[in-house]
Amino acid sequence: MREGLLQGKKGVIFGALNDKSIAWHVALKAWEEGAELVLTNSPVALRLGTINELAKITGSKVITADATKMDEIENLFSQSMDVFGGKFDFILHSIGMSPNVRKDIPYEQTSYENMLKTFDISALSFHRILQTCYKLDALKEWGSVVALSYVAAQRTLSGYNDMGDAKALLESIARSFGYIYGRERKVRINTISQSPTVTTAGSGVHGIDSLIDYSDRMSPLGNATAGECADYCVSLFSDLTRKVTMQNLFHDGGFSSMGMSNRAIEQYQKSFEECECKDK
Ligand SMILES: NC(=O)c1ccc[n+]([C@@H]2O[C@H](COP(=O)([O-])OP(=O)(O)OC[C@H]3O[C@@H](n4cnc5c(N)ncnc54)[C@H](O)[C@@H]3O)[C@@H](O)[C@H]2O)c1
Repeated sequence: MREGLLQGKKGVIFGALNDKSIAWHVALKAWEEGAELVLTNSPVALRLGTINELAKITGSKVITADATKMDEIENLFSQSMDVFGGKFDFILHSIGMSPNVRKDIPYEQTSYENMLKTFDISALSFHRILQTCYKLDALKEWGSVVALSYVAAQRTLSGYNDMGDAKALLESIARSFGYIYGRERKVRINTISQSPTVTTAGSGVHGIDSLIDYSDRMSPLGNATAGECADYCVSLFSDLTRKVTMQNLFHDGGFSSMGMSNRAIEQYQKSFEECECKDK
């Protein structure tokens, strides 16, 4: 029998597409710590991804839901409660997609149709999930909900496009719903602001390799991996963090507090030495 920090807890994990997905790592770690899981993703992700392999390893049921469709979200949570035999303890929202990023349409030439889709999938889905859980009273007292964010919510990072706006909205929803859900049902809601990570969604961001290198050089502890993010999520699902709510928690090796580091400035200096132009 598995004994761990999440022994006896039950949770729904959104967003495991393949073994690179942060949600994949979170599901594995939560399962290793004793949790029982329902895994979910959109119909297209089920066709293109490998979520069924994860379900096999963790002995979980997979229930399809497009996070932009209210009826599918409601069906997901009703079915999850059937699987679990009642209310459950935690949720991971690990969903992000921007058609503007995918099609390389610059921020200053945005298509508003695309932008609305970005917000709908990457941020409003979080409200939809929380509103549905609240309506169905699906989460237990002292339950925990975590969504994954990025520092582009606070700072402008070249190439992140309208996803920065989506993350700002996501973090705001965590605070607004965190107040209501905490006050009425003692459920905590937080976002984790994760380092750039090599995943399918991450690879779509313009210049991601340089961004990963830059952020690693800037962070005193280096970039946080998907596995390390999973550890942090498990701590937030556990009973050890029961009074943490309405927070955006940076999990980025210190990046968000840095201005310039030795490692980054050395690299910057090298680029001047190699440059033949007069203007340094
Ligand atoms: N990779 C990074 O650099 C990084 C950094 C910080 C935060 N994040 C965030 O982490 C989360 C997970 O992304 P990831 O990097 O693991 O990439 P990923 O591509 O593995 O995961 C994104 C998931 O969103 C799902 N999704 C997209 N549209 C959906 C819809 N309509 N309904 C339901 N699910 C839908 C996809 O199927 C996929 O599983 C995202 O919110 C992302 O913004 C990623």
